[in-house]
Order: sequence, then C-alpha cells, then structure tokens
Amino acid sequence: MYFDSHAHYDDRQFDPDRDELLLSLPESGVDYVINCASDLASAEKVLDLVRRYDFVYGAVGIHPEAVGGLDPEAVTSLYGYIEESSKIVAVGEIGLDYHYEDNPERDVQQEWFIEQIELAKELELPVIVHSRDAAADTYEILRDYDAEQVGGVLHSYSGAPEMAQKYIDMGFYLGIGGMITFANAKKVAATVEKMPLERLLIETDCPYLAPVPMRGKRNDSGNLRYIAERIAQIKGVTPEEVARVTTENAKRLFQIQ
Ligand code: NI
Repeated sequence: MYFDSHAHYDDRQFDPDRDELLLSLPESGVDYVINCASDLASAEKVLDLVRRYDFVYGAVGIHPEAVGGLDPEAVTSLYGYIEESSKIVAVGEIGLDYHYEDNPERDVQQEWFIEQIELAKELELPVIVHSRDAAADTYEILRDYDAEQVGGVLHSYSGAPEMAQKYIDMGFYLGIGGMITFANAKKVAATVEKMPLERLLIETDCPYLAPVPMRGKRNDSGNLRYIAERIAQIKGVTPEEVARVTTENAKRLFQIQ
C-alpha cells in the first residue's frame, strides 16, 4: 500500500531493534522502502539492507554535509557500490545544504553535487536531492547539468508552489514528509494543494521528522499513514488514493516492477 521514498534504516538509532522493526513493516502496509545513503560508510550498510529485505531498495550517494575533505576517488567507490546490486535504484542523497554557514564550503558542495549528477546520468539512474536554504542554486545546477535526462525527487520538499512547478516542469517529483502534518507548514500545504498527486511521493526521512501525532519521537515507515491522511485531507481524496497514486509514482520513477 505505502511506498516510503526516503528512509535511513542504517542510522544507529535503529541498532536496538532494526531487524524486528523492518520485518514488521509489511504488516503495517509498507510495501516498499528506499533507504538512502549519506556517505560511503552508509553505502555499505545500504547494500546489506537491500540484500536482507526484499521490499527494501537503495540509493547511494554522498550527502552535502559529508562532502568536506572528500577524496576525489570517492566517485569511483560510489560507482562500485551502485554496480553491486540491481536494487540500487537511485543516486542519493545528494544536493546542497547552506544551513550551516559555509560548512562544508559552498563551492565544494556544488562540485560534488555536479559530479554526482554526472554519475547518475552515466548510470541512467534518477537522483534523490536534498536542498536546504539553497533553493536557487539547487534549481540552477539541476537545470544547467541536464538532470532532466534522469529525473528524480526533491526530498522533504518544503518550498512554495512556484518553485515546485519549476521542478515538475523539469520532470521531477516532490517528496512530501512529516512536515506536511505540522500546523505552521503553510507553504508546503499550498504546494500539495496546487500540484498534481501524480507528481508527489511520500517519505518519512526516518529516524527524523516524525509526523504529528508522533512528532519528536523516532520516526519509521509505519507513520506514513499520517502523511497520506494529511495529503488526502488537503486534496479532498481518500488516504487509499494517496497511497495508491504515490506508490505508482515511486515505482515509475525508480523503475521497480
Ligand atoms: Ni535523508
């Protein structure tokens, strides 16, 4: 029923009960999970997860916060990890994060973002994009480096409808997470209202960003229903319809049969 398009089950917060929790997800109506890497060490763990659980697929890439001082050879390592399993279905998460002033430096983040877009194009895989306080540069890089060739998703999209439309025009999807359930999330609510359901994915970004009423707790894919319910309420459709269409969208983007 549900497709979690962005999760981090390799995170150490899941160490105490990872196996038990993952094995329980299909019973909670979770049919698919994309587990995203954030650095090379987590890429190893993502490969382990996709081998262990049928319903878990992976994305391998280096998060903008982890690109500082990275060896240029890292891109060869990424290539190797991606080639190791046909269940690695995207390059991610990659992007720009300007939240912490120049850490890593912006030009270093941009270089690695571009490098990994090129890798995705070479491998013909979509990109999973992280963008925080960097909307204009993220959009321009995706446009200038023809990310449209492979498409992808703007994960945890929290911006206004105008920018959302530009991404959709470029063939991208918008990943809607727990923030949509927060009372003050007016911009993303406006985006969900105006953009077609056919361009939305749902995601947890677990263990982070738990939706209301679980806010502040450790998040997991079992909470997707709260996100689907809120989107359904905004769009005037049933939660089942949201689950069905967002699952179809994710299967189309990640080419999962
Ligand atoms: Ni993430």
